[in-house]
Amino acid sequence: MKQYKLFFLALTLFLFNCKDSQNDSINVSIKDRNKIEKYRPQFHFTPKEKWMNDPNGLVYFKNNYHLFYQYYPDSTVWGPMHWGHAKSKDLLTWEHRPVALYPDDLGYIFSGSAIIDKENTAGFGENAMVAIYTYHDPFKEKAGQIDYQTQGIAYSLDEGETWTKYQDNPVIKNPGIRDFRDPKVSWFEEKEIWQMVLVAKDEVQFYESKNLKDWKKISTFRFNDQPPLGVWECPDLFKLPVDGIDEEKWVLIISHGGNSSPNGGSGTRYFVGDYDGTTFTTNQKESQWIDYGTDNYAGVTFNNEPNGKRVFIGWMSNWNYATTTPTEKWRSAMTLPRELKLIKSEGKYLVKSQLIVTFNNILKEVSENDVIGNIPLDFEYKELQQSIISFEAVINDKLDLQFSNTLGDAYKMSYNKTSGDFYTDRTKSGKVDFNKSFLKSSVQKMNIGSKNKIKIDIVLDASSIEIFINNGEYVMTNQIFPEENFNRFNIQKNEGLEVKNFTIKKIKSRL
Ligand code: FRU
Repeated sequence: MKQYKLFFLALTLFLFNCKDSQNDSINVSIKDRNKIEKYRPQFHFTPKEKWMNDPNGLVYFKNNYHLFYQYYPDSTVWGPMHWGHAKSKDLLTWEHRPVALYPDDLGYIFSGSAIIDKENTAGFGENAMVAIYTYHDPFKEKAGQIDYQTQGIAYSLDEGETWTKYQDNPVIKNPGIRDFRDPKVSWFEEKEIWQMVLVAKDEVQFYESKNLKDWKKISTFRFNDQPPLGVWECPDLFKLPVDGIDEEKWVLIISHGGNSSPNGGSGTRYFVGDYDGTTFTTNQKESQWIDYGTDNYAGVTFNNEPNGKRVFIGWMSNWNYATTTPTEKWRSAMTLPRELKLIKSEGKYLVKSQLIVTFNNILKEVSENDVIGNIPLDFEYKELQQSIISFEAVINDKLDLQFSNTLGDAYKMSYNKTSGDFYTDRTKSGKVDFNKSFLKSSVQKMNIGSKNKIKIDIVLDASSIEIFINNGEYVMTNQIFPEENFNRFNIQKNEGLEVKNFTIKKIKSRL
């Protein structure tokens, strides 16, 4: 009898346990699931699920940063575009919000911007959030017409939660140009007027309006590219003070599709020049790129950022392989937000991309007990995959460093002082053969000049590496898909190389 009792007690405990673990797995919250999904970035923005591309409608309003984005909620590859929506207090922890804009009779909702209409110039209401975007009509496109892209507007009176499309859309009709899109609108203080930059094939067009509904074209900007770069996309225009001197300049950002970027595929360049309220001019002779890596595209900056700052976010992918990256539930992340600064060095203006100051708030000291080996030259740290490594290197000849894991996957970086070239190599960084173009752009290069000393910050997240040289004078962003997390870092010893002020910090998950 006693044995029976014991048997039943054991059986009940066993069943109870099974039920419990079943419940546990059912109860694993989305938050926890995201934490264990392979390749899910822990402190970069990703959609909960499905396809994402360009950041759209970046605007700061009532203590929140709003990030809208090109979104296809039915698949993990590009399709009929919507605007997804998320908001954040610090640009690092994001709250997902309902889809903001759905396709309608006029077409898909392509990229664009958002402003806050403080003075109610459009008549939608005081402080209305107004989105200005491109309509892409897939039926007209299929029918072989070329006028299938027009500009439309919509407004929200509840901080981007719900939206009403303007009844007389489009507000700008197509003038007979196939690629006519991606309006970025901002308030031009000097003329007290709304201004828009828009790409039209291989030029930027400038428009202005008093009410966001009636737009007048005021000028165009072209650059004599030989050979021409791929299709012009996602422009942005803003003023920045030049660091350390009493001068202000205008920056025009433009993304290029095709294979125009320095290391292949799509990329984003900028022009520094002057803008008189009508026309943009520049003395720049060559292309300068916001990021020399292959994984920062279609980036633009926030409207209404407090404290006169300019914060930029890009789509951390490349049209050459974006739809085939080895993630399952969702596709694509945004880059880290970066504060843009303008400097003048050897007579040349450079736009720097710096880590935002509040990034420090999510860093955590690494205890020595958690590290095995010899910092900085060769050590193991099991949370390397969410970390930032920073140091200064005094260089005699070259610098070679790498991340690796126990399977032998490695991501290499090197700098050759004589040529001034900084290289990254993801050839053996894990999954690389999911797309020929990804493989083709395995080795990437940027020329940072011949320097005795460089400062370097490397930010590693689940499936990305962002390298900032000299506080973001030169940047490289790469996606990577190691088979298991990197856990080892090393710098190769060589004559005359000195590594100073080395730090490694853990980056806390924001999911
Ligand atoms: C840039 C882009 C934009 C367009 C959008 C469509 O990546 O091609 O020009 O508006 O993506 O999703």
